[in-house]
Amino acid sequence: MKALIAAGGKGTRLRPLTYTTSKPLIPIANRPMLFYILDEIEKAGIKDVIININKGTTEIPDAIRKENSWNLKITYIEQEKPLGIAHVVKIAEKKLKDSPFLYYLRDNILKGGINEYLNEFTSNNCICHILLSKVRDPERFGVALFNKKGEIVKLVEKPKKHISDFALTGVYFFTPEIYKAIDKLKPSKRGELEITDAISWLIKHKYPVTYSKVTGWWKDTGQVRDLLEGNQLILEDIDYDIEGKVSSDCTLEGKIKIGRKSIISDGTTIRGPAIIGKNCRIKKSYIGPYTSVGDNVEITDTEIENSIVMPCSKINSSARIVDSLIGFNAKITSHKQTFPSGHKIVVGDYSNVEL
Ligand code: G1P
Repeated sequence: MKALIAAGGKGTRLRPLTYTTSKPLIPIANRPMLFYILDEIEKAGIKDVIININKGTTEIPDAIRKENSWNLKITYIEQEKPLGIAHVVKIAEKKLKDSPFLYYLRDNILKGGINEYLNEFTSNNCICHILLSKVRDPERFGVALFNKKGEIVKLVEKPKKHISDFALTGVYFFTPEIYKAIDKLKPSKRGELEITDAISWLIKHKYPVTYSKVTGWWKDTGQVRDLLEGNQLILEDIDYDIEGKVSSDCTLEGKIKIGRKSIISDGTTIRGPAIIGKNCRIKKSYIGPYTSVGDNVEITDTEIENSIVMPCSKINSSARIVDSLIGFNAKITSHKQTFPSGHKIVVGDYSNVEL
């Protein structure tokens, strides 16, 4: 068994962050999303991993090399253009050879792991096993339709009208028969080779396609609010672990993790679940539930809740910040500190600011 991860693409729905950071490297609870996928692959006992990246980028291999915490053989393939997630499988064929494989889309997080589903795939003797999850917004996904026996009869990508509540997660198991289906594909309306169409081809030609309903939580972190929700779900499981220094006038409540060399002082309250990275300085502030603060961040005189702050940012604002995603090395100051007063903002392309 091998694994293929689709980690390329532009991440347009998360601009402007994805102009400078590859989407799979955006942190959730202070770890890049991609690292959770590698954890799950390792736990499933798969050793051989192929990661698809955009042509000419080294950010993902560099980050994986630096972390160096998996016992996996990782190789990379480059996709010239984003021609679709079935196209990724096509260009990976030379490396996957005749092995069955797990296919994982970069923006999917599946808590509870994949072992159970891998076992189903191998014991079902099928050629494709998909994971389905009941969702409230099926129009954002590929969906599955069943017959009375509960077998899948059809898959529809991003249906305009409501036809099913069961979305395809971006986690699939295939045998090499999938290449036959991909060879028959034509680009979809969005100009891409769709994996959903390839699986539909298999169903139409009576190949055995089976499914599992995901029992734990699954999240497609395509949009800011999904990322924040993914962050909440992961923070719920952190352990209390304080490595930094917390002065006696501060209050810590609930599950909190504070990294080495961080200093929490001047009456700060941190209400968990929350994670503070290494080497942070937090003074006179309130860090509320579901907040992840990356390494080397300074927060002064600020209230912040349900947010992700990426490394090296500086926040000194008397305002209350909620439900926000703050990028690497960003600076937020109070308009009361300088004159003339008023919000002075330098906002990147495709940013989103609520004042
Ligand atoms: C892709 C698949 C879709 C699936 C989704 C899950 O969509 O095409 O069927 O439901 O991943 O993350 P995309 O994220 O490319 O829009």
